[in-house]
Amino acid sequence: MKNIAVIGVGYVGLVSGASFADLGNRVVCLDINEARIENLNKGIMPIYEPGLEEVVERNVKAGRLFFTTSYAVALKDAEYAFIAVGTPSDVDGQADLRYVRMAAESIADAMDHPIIIINKSTVPVGTGDWVADIVRNRRPDAPEFAVVSCPEFLREGSAITDFMNPDRVILGSTNREAAEKVAQLHLPLRTTIMITDLRTAEMIKYASNAFLAAKISFINEIANICEALGADVKEVAYGMGLDKRIGPAFLDAGIGWGGSCFPKDVKALAYMAELAGRHPQLIHAVMDINTDQRKAPIRKVKKLLGGSLEGKIIGLLGLAFKPNTDDMREAPSVDIAWDLLRERAKVRAYDPVAMDNARRLLPEVEMADNPYALAEGADALILVTEWNEFKNLDLARIRDTMKQPILIDGRNIYDPHLVREMGFLYMAIGRGYNGVGIEEIIE
Ligand code: UDX
Repeated sequence: MKNIAVIGVGYVGLVSGASFADLGNRVVCLDINEARIENLNKGIMPIYEPGLEEVVERNVKAGRLFFTTSYAVALKDAEYAFIAVGTPSDVDGQADLRYVRMAAESIADAMDHPIIIINKSTVPVGTGDWVADIVRNRRPDAPEFAVVSCPEFLREGSAITDFMNPDRVILGSTNREAAEKVAQLHLPLRTTIMITDLRTAEMIKYASNAFLAAKISFINEIANICEALGADVKEVAYGMGLDKRIGPAFLDAGIGWGGSCFPKDVKALAYMAELAGRHPQLIHAVMDINTDQRKAPIRKVKKLLGGSLEGKIIGLLGLAFKPNTDDMREAPSVDIAWDLLRERAKVRAYDPVAMDNARRLLPEVEMADNPYALAEGADALILVTEWNEFKNLDLARIRDTMKQPILIDGRNIYDPHLVREMGFLYMAIGRGYNGVGIEEIIE
């Protein structure tokens, strides 16, 4: 059993803290947001994440997991202090490090014994060195400490499973002994642990996220070409993925990537590169393709509705940036809804869990109680998020209550032949067939 402090109870902090406790450690999670800590002490989670509540409850009951707003309490016996605070990006992509600075300063002020500071937040290359400088400058008399970078690769919606089953653990530090001590914490995960220097570890996170985003933008570009040439991108992706060098993951064409990581990290990587005097052409193209891809469903629905959306009722199936989360950060649904509103359409939406978060961002969008209420009287539906619930809808019921049975499948979840046979005017992303492009089929 080790004593661990985790600073920040967002996705990364709370999942890591609860999971480390589940591995038998004593973990104190800290946040400066008092309401969040108060709620956590009552068992109320700040985010929706499958399985998280159970893990938190189990470990609180077992006396291994605690929540506090006090650095003195969190660091009291801690050998390890994880920094897992937010690093939002400003308009030009620069990461905002104010919370990392605050955490580093507070650790410096409160530490009274040797400690390993581990950075889990995604931070610009060089931040680990900067954190060490902050602590050193603030507390020239500080007890011994080391900084280790340990980037997090978990995905929302499967965060606990991802934490417990990582493909690898990356540790970066100039202090090998400290990195090895952090490696010990991860031994129960039985995975490859790579130890490298600080900046390389920080870069691995950005390069991994940018590569995955590039994979998605690539398949979306291929999807658009498939539409023009009459090929089916789903089959194309499957065929490509059978090549072990390519692999099947992250080849689902759709309306593009969003969320709290890819948009922020890809932008930040471009910003860091430009700052260093490089022009990362591919990274810029990856972002441009993604911005454009969000417009695909608008183009399609406009085409099927004869060119104008004015006064038309359009229903959005799904709002969260992906299924199994209530996270609306950089969700394609927000751009799509605003584009529809600009075209003077009436926009409705339904999402199993994200509607509360979405209301603040989309005050002009009417929220429906369920998919069937959404469809009633609608001129078209756009599937935005591929929730399982939408895969098993009673499509006949939906078709019968819509004003016009127009369905735009932004995530390619339906069988084009089946839904067209049911009488839907259906368009997906990149799915032409029989040598006939989708655009031609509907004409
Ligand atoms: C991502 C990384 O996967 C994770 O390693 C990192 O730590 C944080 O960022 P997350 O944002 O939770 O995780 O979601 P992910 O499942 O990776 O999906 C990101 C976006 O890509 C979503 O908008 C999703 O809809 C989209 N996506 C994903 C596709 O459009 N096609 C795909 O094939 C895969």
